[in-house]
Amino acid sequence: MTSIATEPEDSLQRLAEQVAVQRARPGFAMDAYFYRSQLVYRKELDEILYRSWLYAGHVSQLPNPGDYFLFDLGEDSIILVRAGDGAVHALMNVCRHRGSRLCEAAQGNRKTFACPYHGWVYNLDGSLKAARDMAAKPGFDPADYGLKRAQCLVFEGLIFINADSAAADFHSVLNRIAPALRPYGLPTAKIAHRQVYPVEANWKLVLENYLECYHCATAHRAYAKLHTLAELGEKVERINAAMHERAEAQTGVQGIALDLYQAYGTAPAFGACIYTSRYALYDGFQTGSKGGRPVAPLMGDFKGYDGAAGDFQFGPLAFMLNYPDHCVLYRFTPRSPASTDMEVVWFVRGDAEAGRDYDRDALIWLWDRTSVEDKHIIERNSAGVNSRFFEPGPYHPEHESACLDFVDWYLTAMAPLET
Ligand code: FES
Ligand SMILES: [Fe+2]
Repeated sequence: MTSIATEPEDSLQRLAEQVAVQRARPGFAMDAYFYRSQLVYRKELDEILYRSWLYAGHVSQLPNPGDYFLFDLGEDSIILVRAGDGAVHALMNVCRHRGSRLCEAAQGNRKTFACPYHGWVYNLDGSLKAARDMAAKPGFDPADYGLKRAQCLVFEGLIFINADSAAADFHSVLNRIAPALRPYGLPTAKIAHRQVYPVEANWKLVLENYLECYHCATAHRAYAKLHTLAELGEKVERINAAMHERAEAQTGVQGIALDLYQAYGTAPAFGACIYTSRYALYDGFQTGSKGGRPVAPLMGDFKGYDGAAGDFQFGPLAFMLNYPDHCVLYRFTPRSPASTDMEVVWFVRGDAEAGRDYDRDALIWLWDRTSVEDKHIIERNSAGVNSRFFEPGPYHPEHESACLDFVDWYLTAMAPLET
């Protein structure tokens, strides 16, 4: 792993000054300080990651009561579990006695969570069921010692969490993009493949790379051959207008081409970003695969191919690119100032069987390849940003407009000293 020679002099005062300097240079990429400082990273956990809505997983990972999986965030481990009444809970994997981790296996099925240290036992909803011999302590009330929890909601089969108990509701926000997302039938979809691509780079470099397609023409030849997003809007206006004309008729879905951008600075609440739009593939291509040919049965309500893809964002760090026959979800999780997990999840229709209805390698070909390319270019980006000779250059006003939006939001979130 890359080691960063973090500067010894750092403080909240320095962070505030760097934010002010950055603000005085709008339109330019951020100074290396923001990608290298341990203090900045800690502040990001406090001000952004533990306050935002994050994608945790899919309901198919929790089919039965007692099923659970772990989601790691910062120094924390969060247990996503389905309780006996069917509700999904996000519980902090920290015993209320003296803090031991309760659960080690990354996934499984439990009737209860028993702490391996002194044996306190928790119910699936996080309430304390038994604390051995603690009746000896006067006034001890198990009701005071349930597991701490994150907010948790399920939308279209996707599970989201927010560690901030005061965070505004996200469900009503997500509902605004429901007409474009619901047709994919995600609540009953199946995860065909899941892969983590560890990237040796700060999470903001990984995110910024996802937010712009300026690099697509140079770095993703296979993607750029199929998808019009690699070009400026005016160059592909005609092909997108034609797609909008035909989209509803060819997919059989009303409202499939909904356009809504409420991310970062324009999100309805902090960390509650949403976005959807539909953009065309070049003529003759039906889906995101080698040659643009279908690779799985049509999903959900789709009746046919319109030669387009649905682009989505959920919260600041999760995205989806959805074709009529499969959906591809991206999640970025910071692991340290210099490392990030890029996780990609491929969904197909729930009743599709590998080998019969789809070939896994053909299904993942485009986005596996594209992710490997991204990992490579982001790590090269990181190496350059960590050079003492790096001087931030200007973002492209259209191709990199979402990066501009992100940076503006980020600086606001990171400037609590500015009053
Ligand atoms: S730390 Fe869990 S029972 Fe003691
Ligand atoms: Fe990319």
